[in-house]
Amino acid sequence: MPQTSTLSILISTEQIRARTAEMARQIEADLAGEPVLLLGVLNGAVHFLSDLSREINSDSLLDFLQTSSYHGGKSSSGVVQIRKDLDINIEGKNVIIVEDIVDTGITLSHLRELLSTRKPKSLKVAALLSKKGSRKVHPEVEYIGFEIPNEFVVGYGLDYEDRFRNLPYIAILHEE
Ligand code: PRP
Repeated sequence: MPQTSTLSILISTEQIRARTAEMARQIEADLAGEPVLLLGVLNGAVHFLSDLSREINSDSLLDFLQTSSYHGGKSSSGVVQIRKDLDINIEGKNVIIVEDIVDTGITLSHLRELLSTRKPKSLKVAALLSKKGSRKVHPEVEYIGFEIPNEFVVGYGLDYEDRFRNLPYIAILHEE
């Protein structure tokens, strides 16, 4: 981080905890007792998947995939690479893609298209953060934690050049 950069908290640890619990209640209600497969999109979703999965009181499986389009920087390259694919066969399962953030929508749009070809019973998305103002494409996002302004945010899994993922809150990275 350049020396002139500062962080300001946008969403506190307690706000994240409370909203994650609300999202889990909604997901449980929609599942109506059926099992779910939660797919975490590495690396950014690691904390949200961990916390959300422990809040959901349903029979659940976890799996992970990894994409990359930001290459550690601040803007999407527009090209989504699958760096790690799933281990579990999703055919016939209720699947929820778990994302830390939907920004341009390019990553999620690509994932929805790819995973829907594998014939899940249902395919939904839970994203902790959404920046509606910066969408370039508009994939459906069934569960959104917080709509945030068009600022560059870090923490709780989100990085800038691979730093800040361990912060327990979401902060705006200001560069003067
Ligand atoms: C980030 C984030 C989402 C995606 C959202 O991943 O975790 O997957 O970008 O951006 P978009 O809506 O503009 O496509 P990134 O590729 O930076 O990898 P990371 O999770 O390892 O940081």
